Amino acid sequence: MFDPELYVRRRAAFLDAMAARFPNSIAWIPSAPAVPQGNDVFRQDSDFFYLTGFDEPGSVLFFDSKEKKTTVFVRPKNVKKETWDGPRAGVDCAKELCGAQESFSITQLDAKLCDLVKNHKTLLVHLGFSRANDDRVIKTLHKLRAKKRKGIVAPSEVVDPAVLLHEMRLRKGPEDLTAMSKAIAITAEAHARAMASARPGTYEYEIEALMLDTFRRNGSERPAYGTIVASGPNACVLHYRSNRRQMLAGDLLLIDAGCEYDYFASDVTRTFPLGGVFSREQQILYELVLEAQIEAIAAVRVGTTLEKLQKGAARTMVSGLLRLGLMEGDLDEVVKKQKFKPFYPHRIGHWLGMDVHDVGEYFIDGKPRPLEAGMVITVEPGLYIPLSNETVAAQWRGLGVRIEDDVLVTETGRDVLTKSIPKTVDELRYACSGAS
Ligand code: GLY
Ligand code: MN
Ligand code: MN
Repeated sequence: MFDPELYVRRRAAFLDAMAARFPNSIAWIPSAPAVPQGNDVFRQDSDFFYLTGFDEPGSVLFFDSKEKKTTVFVRPKNVKKETWDGPRAGVDCAKELCGAQESFSITQLDAKLCDLVKNHKTLLVHLGFSRANDDRVIKTLHKLRAKKRKGIVAPSEVVDPAVLLHEMRLRKGPEDLTAMSKAIAITAEAHARAMASARPGTYEYEIEALMLDTFRRNGSERPAYGTIVASGPNACVLHYRSNRRQMLAGDLLLIDAGCEYDYFASDVTRTFPLGGVFSREQQILYELVLEAQIEAIAAVRVGTTLEKLQKGAARTMVSGLLRLGLMEGDLDEVVKKQKFKPFYPHRIGHWLGMDVHDVGEYFIDGKPRPLEAGMVITVEPGLYIPLSNETVAAQWRGLGVRIEDDVLVTETGRDVLTKSIPKTVDELRYACSGAS
């Protein structure tokens, strides 16, 4: 839902942050480029959307920290083109929508760039965003440098606006959390439907279709990432995407799927046995991952770090693997030297927000960053024993388990935003029982 006041506040906060850190600066924020026909559908760049809620390609925003002024360039109205691609806000309306003091047609961008950028010490622009934008930046700097005898100053420093903007995006406000909760509610429904529907004989793509159907029916714009429906040994492939296998009785099914709503992502993994009843080995492995995941979630609080959560989860899972005879060695050494990587090759989690692997630094001055209230992280330990792992007894091979929740760091601890999605052995048995 477009709430103009929210974007007014975000732009004001961004301008304040610019003025405080780079007193004489201009920020240059391009929209996502238009998508060629036949490719994926357009999604606005998250930074651009965060500041405007404006979802047209061919737009560029400028913020001037001294004049506290926003300028926007957009595609002009064009009846013929709008017949093909849908309505455009146009120059006047975009000015209003983006809360800008000035607006121009994007066709005037090259003519206006030097005037906009000149006489600022710092240019805040994301280099590497697109070749076209990089070329424009370099051309503008060249032109301005050539004018210095006339008293015109070219920016002497180019800084990534991420240092301000991504810090803002990392801490979620109430509106962000409302959108994320909606994404999570839809995702929860999709996982519940999958649990009740998957049975021996089902193809992975049927479950994928059911997840995407649930997303779209509930008004989600798109999945937040490629939906993973990995049955049996496919669960051991971390980025499994083909979703083509027909499920067999006795399979575990790992589903990593989440939708986006109002430009906010959810990211949830559940692993369950078809029909809800685990085999002995499946349950042992599942409960080990669950123990590590519940412990890691309980450890989420202001001041801890993802590194600490990672170490704790690894330690719990390694203890279990040693106890079960699936690994050998000394607990401390296995954890310290990360010898668990063949079983647990990924990290405990990541920032979650407008992008599924959201923006924001993970290390500050080389040290793991302490969690703060308002950050949202995923907590997603997993254990994987591919069929090719001949170091373990045969009955353990081909099992993969990951459990992933979305967790808000709060002043007093944490809020598990995805807590309604079945996770314990009993909850899963009940949720899957429709399929037995
Ligand atoms: N689905 C992507 C991830 O879990 O990080
Ligand atoms: Mn994740
Ligand atoms: Mn995931």
